[in-house]
Amino acid sequence: MMAILIRGGEIVTDTQRYHADVLCEGETISRIGRDLAAPAGATVLDARGKFVFPGFIDPHVHIYLPFMGTYAKDTYESASRAALVGGTTTLIEMCCPARSDDATRAFELWMSKAVGKSVCDFSFHMGVTKFDESSESALTAIVKRGISSFKVFLAYKGAFGIDDIELYATLKLAKKLGVIVTAHCENETLVDERSRELLAIGKRGTAQHHESRPEYVEAEGVNHLMTFAQSTGAATYIVHLSCVDALERALAARASGVRVNIETLIQYLVLDKSDAERGDFEGAKFVMSPPLRDKRNQEALWSALHAGEIDTVATDHAPFDFADQKRMGANDFTKIPNGIPSLEDRITLLYTRGVLEGKLTLNDLVRVASTNAAKCFDLYPRKGAIAVGSDADIVVFDPADRGTISAKTHSMAVDYSAFEGWERHGRATDVTVRGTLVVRDGAFIGRAGHGQFLARTPSHF
Ligand code: URP
Ligand code: ZN
Ligand code: ZN
Repeated sequence: MMAILIRGGEIVTDTQRYHADVLCEGETISRIGRDLAAPAGATVLDARGKFVFPGFIDPHVHIYLPFMGTYAKDTYESASRAALVGGTTTLIEMCCPARSDDATRAFELWMSKAVGKSVCDFSFHMGVTKFDESSESALTAIVKRGISSFKVFLAYKGAFGIDDIELYATLKLAKKLGVIVTAHCENETLVDERSRELLAIGKRGTAQHHESRPEYVEAEGVNHLMTFAQSTGAATYIVHLSCVDALERALAARASGVRVNIETLIQYLVLDKSDAERGDFEGAKFVMSPPLRDKRNQEALWSALHAGEIDTVATDHAPFDFADQKRMGANDFTKIPNGIPSLEDRITLLYTRGVLEGKLTLNDLVRVASTNAAKCFDLYPRKGAIAVGSDADIVVFDPADRGTISAKTHSMAVDYSAFEGWERHGRATDVTVRGTLVVRDGAFIGRAGHGQFLARTPSHF
């Protein structure tokens, strides 16, 4: 493997900014310093005027997703390419078995979709979508194979959702194994009942999706998880937190000693419920759960990120085509496959809407989009850092680059962009994954199968 010397850029980590060269040899960073000499045969990247970031980590992604009567559109080939051109070098996918599926077989199925195909590095949160007499031994064996996080759904009754006895058992096992439990927090009974009532009075359109799951329904889900976390002592991670009400419940629990990390999504920071209310069924492009919220929540989410109260920004990437899949819910909002694709756009949007609008510093950007995810999910300092010995996952980012986001040019295998026509500032021009260049001058040059499964060791005892 050829050495790569990244010369003259400004290194930005979660805590530092400084000018230095970075030398990558083999799969790791071997030296950081001024005026480093290039070893014979090294590829030299000119990073003058650019930022040099640690590879970004998206800790909440769906690629293989059988859901709501269909399948999400991406494969690992398309998704990892989209991730990389957008600056994300590691993703953690949700392994989401149906209740009737065997956990071990599901884990192996999800692995088989990624191994030999992904270009970026990857891991999984193991979905616990039921807990029965075989679960403890099966999940313990899966943890030994390198999985250090579970995923539970307090929503999607009759599909991925688990009941309280199962939730309690999952958290107790997680505590014993040192595993962190990620959770989708919405009260599934309230969602179901409200949906039935809305449909019964003829309120069936995309705008009713958010009426069926208002902010307090999410806040109740957060409160519920926090109570169970308090009772079991397990470490928890709230995925896709969307609103102030839910945030306040999580922060109150944290203040009282409950172990909780908090994730929000790029979608909640830049889109709002008026998008899901667009006419001509356009709103379906913006249907996800928890739903896009009233715009008033956005300032508070940005501030909580800057203040370190919210830990991470993910995408919950879940791509369903507008032309046919979203149309399944043309006459019933409960049948619109939930999800807003965004794996490719997270970093440029955080930069354009966050850093350039003064809501995040560059260090905040690295912390919430890379380092904190590595810390929560047992990948730090292998990932999330620019340091000697860390994996040589580097993003050279040109802040002067300008462009327009469009489905016509994106790499995600989905027929629309929620950000169609938006101007973006800055983009990843050169990207390495463990010392191999996979994006050069903005062009993807990666090889399927370069990405590795990241075996993780639990630490959340
Ligand atoms: O709407 C969403 N969030 N779709 C993906 C599945 C999930 O709940 O994370
Ligand atoms: Zn979810
Ligand atoms: Zn999700």
